[in-house]
Amino acid sequence: MDDNPEIIMDPEMKGVSRRAFIKGVIAGGVATSSAAYLFRSSSVFGQQPPGLGERLITLNVNGQQRRVDVMKQETLAWTLRYKLGLTGTKLGCDRAECGACTVLLDDVPYYSCSVLTHTVRGKKVLTIEGLANADGTLHPVQQGVIDEQGFQCAFCMSGFIMSAVGFLKTHPNPTRSELAHGLSGNLCRCQDYDKILTAMMRGAENMRKAQNV
Ligand code: FES
Ligand code: FES
Repeated sequence: MDDNPEIIMDPEMKGVSRRAFIKGVIAGGVATSSAAYLFRSSSVFGQQPPGLGERLITLNVNGQQRRVDVMKQETLAWTLRYKLGLTGTKLGCDRAECGACTVLLDDVPYYSCSVLTHTVRGKKVLTIEGLANADGTLHPVQQGVIDEQGFQCAFCMSGFIMSAVGFLKTHPNPTRSELAHGLSGNLCRCQDYDKILTAMMRGAENMRKAQNV
């Protein structure tokens, strides 16, 4: 057995450090395979098969203009995940309870499972995939997760990060309890709230340092 715990043992990923692997996961929100959700979703959500009643619209997603065919009853979470391939946005409850699907619309956090896609035309949609810089530098809140090793399975992670980023835009210097209140719309099935909050507080600190606040 390798005596260096930092090195991942998967032969497909030789030479990739644990830290580098986690960094990649945080940047893309790729905590869990989306395949199970894709199949589960098609039966649970009752979305129509592609092509029926779709209309071509343009969305501003992560700073890019994206042309996409959407149905009038299609949710933004569905469009992001299954039409645009942005699977960092997770679907947990699909009914505005868990916050796993949180994205920013014009800098304000929203549950994307409860927003109809056609209503966000003209707004700036930001998902977890759009947070890091083009050079790969993580957003300060993402870096806070690395610094504090927050989250267990991390299914809830991208939703928490997006909520924190939105909250910190208007509350850059929160107390721990203020930040907890700001993130109270996000649930964690692993119940790791204390550690998550510590990571988000570190993210807030990183943001202040980055902005010299
Ligand atoms: S999936 Fe949207 S709030 Fe749970
Ligand atoms: S860390 Fe597992 S759901 Fe939050």
